[in-house]
Amino acid sequence: MEETEKKGPRNGNLVFAINGEKFELTNIDPSTTLLEFLRSHTRFKSPKLGCGEGGCGACVVLLSKHDPILDQVEDFTVSSCLTLLCSLNGCSITTSEGLGNSKDGFHPIHERFAGFHASQCGFCTPGMCMSLFSALTNAEKTHGPEPLTGFSKLTVSEAERAIAGNLCRCTGYRPIADACKSFAADVDLEDLGINSFWRKGEPKEVKLKRLPSYYPKDRVTKFPEFLKGRSTLKMKINLENFSWYIPTNLEELRSLFNSNVADDVQIKLVVGSTGMGYYKELEHYDRYIDLRYVPELSMIRRNEKEIIIGAAVTISRVIVFLKENDTGNSSSDGKQVFLKIANHMEKIASGFIRNSGSIGGNLVMAQRKHFPSDITTILIAVSSTVSIMTGHKHETLTLEEFLARPPIHTRSVLLSIQVPLLDRKINGNGGSGSKLAFETYRASPRPLGNALPYLNAAFLVNVSHANGVIVNDIRLVFGAYGTKHSIRARKVEDYLSGKRLSANVLYEAVKLVKGAVIPEFGTSYAAYRSSLAVSFLFQFLSPFVNFGSAICGGLSDELVGHLPKDSSTNCNEISTGQLVNSAVLSSAKQEVQSGREYYPVGEPTTKSGSAIQASGEAVYVDDIPSPPNCLHGAFIYSTKPLAHVRGVEIKSYTQLNGVAAVISYKDIPEGGENVGSKTIFGVEPLFADDLTRCAGEPIALVVAETQKSANIAANSAVINYDTENLDPPILTVEEAVKRSSFFEVPPFLYPEKVGDFSKGMAEADHKILCSEIKLGSQNHFYMETQTALAVPDEDNCMVVYSSIQVPEYAQIVIAKCLGLPQHNVRVITRRVGGGFGGKAIRAMPVATACALAAHKLRRPVRTYLNRKTDMIITGGRHPMKITYSVGFKSNGKVTALHLDILIDAGIGADISPVMPLNVLGSLKKYNWGALSFDIKVCKTNRSSKTAMRGPGEVQGSFIAETIVENVASILLMEVDSVRNINLHTFESLNVFYGGSAGEAPEYTLGEIWDKLGASSCMVQRIKTIEQFNQRNRWHKRGISRVPIVHQLIVRPTPGRVSILWDGSIVVEVGGIELGQGLWTKVKQMTAYALSSIGCDGTENLLEKVRVIQSDSLSLVQGGFTSGSTTSESSCEAVRLCCNILVERLGPLKSKLQEQMGAVNWNALILQAHFEAVNLAVNSYYVPDLNSMQYLNYGAAVSEVEIDILTGETKIMQSDIMYDCGQSMNPAVDLGQIEGAFVQGIGFFMLEEYLTDADGLTISDSTWTYKIPTIDTIPKQLNVEVWNSGHNKKRVLSSKASGEPPLLLAVSVHCATRAAIKEARKQLKSWSRIDGPDSAFQLDVPAIMPVVKNLCGLDIVERYLESLLTD
Ligand SMILES: Cc1cc2nc3c(=O)[nH]c(=O)nc-3n(C[C@H](O)[C@H](O)[C@H](O)COP(=O)(O)OP(=O)(O)OC[C@H]3O[C@@H](n4cnc5c(N)ncnc54)[C@H](O)[C@@H]3O)c2cc1C
Ligand code: FES
Ligand code: FES
Repeated sequence: MEETEKKGPRNGNLVFAINGEKFELTNIDPSTTLLEFLRSHTRFKSPKLGCGEGGCGACVVLLSKHDPILDQVEDFTVSSCLTLLCSLNGCSITTSEGLGNSKDGFHPIHERFAGFHASQCGFCTPGMCMSLFSALTNAEKTHGPEPLTGFSKLTVSEAERAIAGNLCRCTGYRPIADACKSFAADVDLEDLGINSFWRKGEPKEVKLKRLPSYYPKDRVTKFPEFLKGRSTLKMKINLENFSWYIPTNLEELRSLFNSNVADDVQIKLVVGSTGMGYYKELEHYDRYIDLRYVPELSMIRRNEKEIIIGAAVTISRVIVFLKENDTGNSSSDGKQVFLKIANHMEKIASGFIRNSGSIGGNLVMAQRKHFPSDITTILIAVSSTVSIMTGHKHETLTLEEFLARPPIHTRSVLLSIQVPLLDRKINGNGGSGSKLAFETYRASPRPLGNALPYLNAAFLVNVSHANGVIVNDIRLVFGAYGTKHSIRARKVEDYLSGKRLSANVLYEAVKLVKGAVIPEFGTSYAAYRSSLAVSFLFQFLSPFVNFGSAICGGLSDELVGHLPKDSSTNCNEISTGQLVNSAVLSSAKQEVQSGREYYPVGEPTTKSGSAIQASGEAVYVDDIPSPPNCLHGAFIYSTKPLAHVRGVEIKSYTQLNGVAAVISYKDIPEGGENVGSKTIFGVEPLFADDLTRCAGEPIALVVAETQKSANIAANSAVINYDTENLDPPILTVEEAVKRSSFFEVPPFLYPEKVGDFSKGMAEADHKILCSEIKLGSQNHFYMETQTALAVPDEDNCMVVYSSIQVPEYAQIVIAKCLGLPQHNVRVITRRVGGGFGGKAIRAMPVATACALAAHKLRRPVRTYLNRKTDMIITGGRHPMKITYSVGFKSNGKVTALHLDILIDAGIGADISPVMPLNVLGSLKKYNWGALSFDIKVCKTNRSSKTAMRGPGEVQGSFIAETIVENVASILLMEVDSVRNINLHTFESLNVFYGGSAGEAPEYTLGEIWDKLGASSCMVQRIKTIEQFNQRNRWHKRGISRVPIVHQLIVRPTPGRVSILWDGSIVVEVGGIELGQGLWTKVKQMTAYALSSIGCDGTENLLEKVRVIQSDSLSLVQGGFTSGSTTSESSCEAVRLCCNILVERLGPLKSKLQEQMGAVNWNALILQAHFEAVNLAVNSYYVPDLNSMQYLNYGAAVSEVEIDILTGETKIMQSDIMYDCGQSMNPAVDLGQIEGAFVQGIGFFMLEEYLTDADGLTISDSTWTYKIPTIDTIPKQLNVEVWNSGHNKKRVLSSKASGEPPLLLAVSVHCATRAAIKEARKQLKSWSRIDGPDSAFQLDVPAIMPVVKNLCGLDIVERYLESLLTD
């Protein structure tokens, strides 16, 4: 450093722009991320914190850089949660509110997101909009043909892929994809789903006219002039207390490490800093060195021998280079290799990570910390080398050697990676007739990326033809399977080299590979990962093997079909194709039947607030600016299931100047109680006292000046546990039974048995006795984690802004904890970024902890839980163990069912005592003849399980289907016929559901069942699937139809409607807007009910209605927003208010009409104010006892295809029919149906909820918990919102839609089971074993290893053995 400083460093301030505004900083901690800065120092709150790991896309912004030499602007997305602010010198950042907003006008992206109903809670929406915006911006820079006016150059496939890295927990993605596709040049507008721009069947010209116009040229972001002249190349950014260096050549870089820099100076080299997403480094660094401006590190070029990639080059740039550039003298095979490398790289992370993540960063993470890299695997396969600089020493070594070395020193720099241009020879072998083949593989839960693979592989072979195919050279590389680094399977390579490929050789090779790819001890799914290695090698080599005339080149037809076109024509030709960029989703159908009788109720109106959600102006709790003096809290939680807490020590307490206090139960004021949540079943403590009773239980709240300091402090907490004199914890339901540890279920909540089980069993022809089912948990994974802000107010009052589904209960709990009267506590909730039940009970401790800290410190305190803490302390869905015995006739009719169900409730009662009722409620969808059960709600030392969308009901529905499947497999019957024969008649429905069953015409399930069968062409598709399964060896398909019956309860709800002087209307309701569209329906109901006054101007009343935030002191008795019925009860409460207002206004209206002939709304209201008519009405809707419960019906048909080599499941099509009564807003209900269904797919197929031996949740991040993404939803999703017509007992004949459709996702699981059955049949035939093989259990979730395991981990070996023994 000295030398440079002598010359005078080129220093400057940190200057950048956000949405055109200039920011110039001199004092910022270099570890500050762009997101932290945006959210705490600017008014731009549209980028949200969803994960802080680069895994969700909620924080995506557009970054623009100006190249002064070319005078060009480069625009790309980045995850602002990982981008360090100091790396943005001279850059311009655009956020969603920068595209457009409510003041300056929305951007067409915002308008189309709103119009296509693409936002629900809206928390993911700004990030989605930015991902799309970047894709549109960059599409315009391509040389593609000019699109039609109003469209972009983007293709449909690119539009879908633009949001592949963004997560949404609410919508199910289909409407988001439609909004994106609406910009694509090649879109067929007919294919786009329901929207508020046009109605079905309207001509194309009308549609085009109604779509918010898009003129790409007007919509590019303007790079600020004030940044253009600036040189970003400052050697050092002047920061008062910190240092951020930007060397521009190797000498400068070296000087920063030179011997004058003391060894204890902590140096951090940075490029994209995306590595933080995985390692979440919390260390403090003295010196940051930005490597991006050293030419040797930042260029990518080629010479006649190799491509040289500077280590700081981003993955995106490498992809573009490999795809677009002529790769020199390399042979055409060589070019294909680079294309395939590029294609593989496109599955690494997501676009917004690849845009800043560097190739060198990836390699160093792999080298130093054993990151499961894809890049090392694919680059070893092509014999890459790396260059490293340590001081003055430069070395070049092979990538393999680099990886094998001890972790490189923090003062060594990886300079570049050299990838040789490939000709026919790998190691000099191979004659002129030889050919290269290269392929890469990765098996991961998400096909398009944003998920680490279970295994990746890259194979390069040089072969020649001489009486078959001879291997000249081969490189086989495997990685990411639970090994330190990617490795070459040398034994297999040695074995194969020089061999003529045959079934026998292949068989020996796969056996060797299984021995070579062995994950380290403790790696999950070790055997599965090894079996994948076999599958990949088989896939790679089998096209070269002539297995016999029936099989083309060793491939079944279907496998040939999967090869690129040019190779399928000649099986012995080597695969050289590109990955086809096909659309992710097929067109979908939505049928909605709405009536105009209650206009505007029944209209598919745009969701209230959706445009401001898209622009990011919608205010969530964490968007509320911090009041002066505000502190931030982070929970310290227990990691032990049962232990005395002897002390808590914050390691970094002294280093962190910001820590203000550690709040625990000891801080509860006199008169207060240690209470953190409450239900009708009891209370739970806010903090563990001297005894912690489950891992994940909050022990204290660290309160600090910033959220970051609080998080670091909480993370560094060391808890001193002691288990002396304590019994072992109860961690299983079996143990709970042994020790009689149960929660009491009040008799009125215990379901009633039906019929006589012994009699039913006696009538049975067949019996299954004591069969077992186990079900795990599911995390809510709402995009906005739990959050609250508590502000002390005058006279010992407390105002708490909380993201909660039950403000009323939070108020009660806070008051109790603080020892205050309830009127001293005001809980305000405007909107919630997704709740799904998780923000009902579990949001209370978060709000209460903030209130307690604020009360004690007399300062505002807020918290926004990080994703990990949220996932650990929230609890999730109830796991359970079920043992059942069932009797049935030979025709499949069940005569008796008995169940023993052990529900794991965790440590607190929460809502668990309602679980028996809920489980049975949906399980009773079939007529079981006689039904008996014993259900125990077990109290265990695990975190309290809580409500999650369809709590208990989803498990009940699954249990029912598993039993039916089992019956069918014993009888060797089609499962669909067994379902059919056990569907209820109205009589049996009455027996099972009593009063909830309603009148006979309300029982619509039979009709739905038949109609869905017909509309989904089930019979024909079963035949097609049979043919498919016969023809295809490595892919199997299955189809399944399931019904649901869902019991709902309407609860009392308050409402208030007030009409202001200008005729605008303000509405308050008990329900909370969680994204479910409650406000939208309430607005529609208000407009409908007030329009009955019958004056002019009421047609547009909808626009005059505003629903405002919930305030527990303003509208009392708000109750719970849960159970799917809050929208209808809130609407009814509002209707009662409106009816009274209409009654009050009636006489005045008649008078005015008489006087003036006609009267319009505004005049009427103005006059009413002058005449002192009371224009505010409060109501409390209490449903009638005999109509408060009702049943809802629906059915779904799903078809899946499994890849039996990898266990991957593709959902080809799902058809859903769901009874919404007379939907109040079919677009909203459709959104609920699709969103719930996709969340159900998450539960049944993807979301693995794991805990450690102490019960601590270890699926606690976007890395380990995989919710559905756009590439894992049904390719085709057809939904019919069924209108079952008038029902006077329902609110305007409507029915709920929020939760029941989630249960329908079991159809995907059942279809997967059907496909696996086919695979197992085939496997048996290879093994020449006779007899049925349908009795197996498919676990939930049916993730890839589970599916593959059932299809046979040794399926390839068994297949080859069958050939060899023929
Ligand atoms: C959400 C997400 C998903 C991902 N998925 C995948 C995946 O599926 N497959 C895969 O292979 N990768 C994946 N990655 C990893 C990703 O490729 C790396 O994070 C990225 O390439 C790192 O580059 P960077 O420039 O951001 O490195 P940084 O974060 O800046 O640096 C990473 C580390 O390397 C050091 N370093 C960086 N450059 C050099 C250098 N030239 N010399 C010496 N030290 C250096 C830094 O000091 C730091 O310790 C994923 C990452 C994220 C965040
Ligand atoms: S918050 Fe940045 S990607 Fe999730
Ligand atoms: S709308 Fe996407 S997360 Fe809620």
